[in-house]
Amino acid sequence: MENMRAIILAAGEGTRMKSKLPKVLHKVLGRSMVGHVMVAAKGAGAEQVCVVVGHKAEEVKAAIGEGVSFALQEQQLGTGHAVMQADLFIQGEGDVLVLFGDTPLITEATLQKLIAFHKAQNHGVTVLSAIVEDPTGYGRIIRDEQGNFIKSVEHKDASEEERQVREINSGMYCFKAKALKEALQNITNHNVQGEYYLPDTLQAIRSKGLTVNALVAEDPQDILGVNSRVQLAEASAIMQKRINHKHMEEGVTILDPAQTYIYPDVQIGIDTILYPGTVLEGHTVIGEDCIIGPNTRIVNSHLHDKVEIEYSVVLDSKIGNHSHIGPYAYIRPNCSIGEHVKIGDFVEVKNATIGNHTKASHLTYIGDADIGNHINFGCGTVVVNYDGEKKHRTIIEDHAFIGCNTNLISPVTVKQGAYTAAGSTITEDVPENALGIARVRQMNKLEWKKKK
Ligand code: UD1
Ligand code: CA
Repeated sequence: MENMRAIILAAGEGTRMKSKLPKVLHKVLGRSMVGHVMVAAKGAGAEQVCVVVGHKAEEVKAAIGEGVSFALQEQQLGTGHAVMQADLFIQGEGDVLVLFGDTPLITEATLQKLIAFHKAQNHGVTVLSAIVEDPTGYGRIIRDEQGNFIKSVEHKDASEEERQVREINSGMYCFKAKALKEALQNITNHNVQGEYYLPDTLQAIRSKGLTVNALVAEDPQDILGVNSRVQLAEASAIMQKRINHKHMEEGVTILDPAQTYIYPDVQIGIDTILYPGTVLEGHTVIGEDCIIGPNTRIVNSHLHDKVEIEYSVVLDSKIGNHSHIGPYAYIRPNCSIGEHVKIGDFVEVKNATIGNHTKASHLTYIGDADIGNHINFGCGTVVVNYDGEKKHRTIIEDHAFIGCNTNLISPVTVKQGAYTAAGSTITEDVPENALGIARVRQMNKLEWKKKK
């Protein structure tokens, strides 16, 4: 697709959200609404994207970041006026998509169909429409008896007869840049709302002798706009269903799709099973034959194959094949956990590498540590990584055995094959194959009870 640009309107306030956050920055499965629209536009072939900002412009720009241009609409004088502010984007030849920042369910595939239809028919402009049950509030697509497009009329400006029409204007268009530029010079704000309506460009382009048509979206959900928290939840539920459906089609078992949330960038291998309450966020990658959940949150992490995680939280970490996490484990950022590892109940791990076949089965904290292979942590081990000012690193070499209730005061090293005695507070390195004991010896006071 050559020379395709996109303009996304996002200057409105969105008062019905009742929010401090600008409407288009509200998230649907972890990504802002305007972010979803940008991804769909780029996926459909838009090489450059311009977002028109107005209400809380600086906040919106900062949240969107790099990779797009911005145009400022200081006063919201209508959708046509908003497009005029992106003047640099409607110069010269080629086509321009115009989209809204509050329609997160628009897909790359639907935009591709719009563009393909527009180009094949050589239209001056093609508007995306949809047939809906309740068209109240929307602009209506008015056609003649043969079905030819005549105009798009706003609900507030429509006659009783026009209001009966159920084909609505989605607010999304593919324009010939030249036709759009010229038409914008010919629209007025002489209407009920006193706004410059973008839909008025359709008639203006038609009156110049170019063909104009509406393409009906196959799935009317694609064009749903979000104006309130209730609609935000509805859009989230639709997107959740779509994403879950795609993963099930590709070989993932989801026990209860309504209670499983998979963000758009997540990848999952075949024959993985997701139990209810699973939330997979960010750029998480999950291998094959894993069992995840119930009630597990995984963010930006990479799980290899046959990993099992139950009732746990995993953040920004890697977990090797055949490892088992949980129940009730907390894997904090920057952990690299090997293969056949067991991280059991009430174990917290942070900024640590853990070798293969190592086990921390219960009630343990491992922070800022390099842990080797085949190590056993007794119950209640604490890596004391923080002295109140600085964090230090602990090293435990292969085949070491850490006795129950050991405190490892960092920085400290337990060498290969060494043991620590249960209840020890280890402040010095333990040599290879040695036993480190650091506790007071037991004393028994005989017949103590009698003398009491
Ligand atoms: C618009 C269409 C209507 C269509 C409907 C689909 C117009 C005049 N009407 O109506 O035909 O059926 O969308 O949802 O276009 N915006 C700006 N600057 C402005 C005005 C709006 O950036 O000056 C942005 C808003 O932030 C919003 C979008 O454009 O994202 C739509 O504006 P809104 O006022 O909600 O238009 P509708 O009345 O819904
Ligand atoms: Ca709207």
